[in-house]
Amino acid sequence: MNKLLDKKVAVVTGAGRGIGAAIAQLFAAEGANVAVCSLSLANAQKVATEVAQLGVKALPYAVNTADGEQVNNVSRQILADFGSVDILVNNAGITRDGLLVRMSEADWDLVLDVNLKGTFLFTKALLPAMIKQRAGTIVNITSIVGVAGNAGQANYAASKAGLIGLTKTTAKEYAKRGIRVNAVAPGFIETDMTDKLTPEQKQLQTDYIGLARLGQPADVAKTVLYLASDLSSYVTGQVIGVDGGLRI
Ligand code: NAI
Repeated sequence: MNKLLDKKVAVVTGAGRGIGAAIAQLFAAEGANVAVCSLSLANAQKVATEVAQLGVKALPYAVNTADGEQVNNVSRQILADFGSVDILVNNAGITRDGLLVRMSEADWDLVLDVNLKGTFLFTKALLPAMIKQRAGTIVNITSIVGVAGNAGQANYAASKAGLIGLTKTTAKEYAKRGIRVNAVAPGFIETDMTDKLTPEQKQLQTDYIGLARLGQPADVAKTVLYLASDLSSYVTGQVIGVDGGLRI
């Protein structure tokens, strides 16, 4: 049977660990060649080496998504190394939590820059190649918090809500060029990002989850695969929750 992403070229940001690493792994298992982007070159190298063991081409790139010059340079390098790009997953994201009255302007700016501006920058840099081939898929990783808000996360929630607007607008602008743009909104996924919570806090979260377990990076990766592949050929501008029923 043909693999879902046979010989497609995929760019995954924040792929040095967590959800991004799981996406890179699953894409490679489905035959995609992967540009593994991360803030840390060491992490990107580690994941690219693991991914390459699945028999695809995988190269590591260090890039800060908040830095336009870095994003442009890395995007150019990826196009030179792989020859094209079919899939972009904007997954890099950070939190700097705190109540709004105590949130510093620097923490507001940093989270908005990495999560929201970074997605704009990568999309802008790689869309022309997709437009040229009149095909491509973009998947943005937002969050349940971008839909529902969350006390203590004004900056993060605003960045993730912004991603939903960006996703729908990009979908509308480029649908006629054959490009689909969707978002995935994870709930509570066990990664370094959520590792700071105590076992009691995790239990409290689990009590509200219909499926009665925390999510795993692979749970998110499977939905991203659906949106990145032809399985979702008639789906664009959508936000799909991957939250174990937290929102129902
Ligand atoms: P993580 O902290 O394990 O991984 C984040 C990745 O982003 C890392 O590889 C990190 O190096 C990279 N990164 C951070 N700052 C960067 C920058 N300036 N430039 C480039 N890369 C940068 O987090 P996790 O959980 O894997 O998160 C992945 C995405 O999923 C994020 O966008 C996050 O907001 C989102 N998400 C996570 C949830 C969770 O419960 N873990 C829930 C909802 C959304």
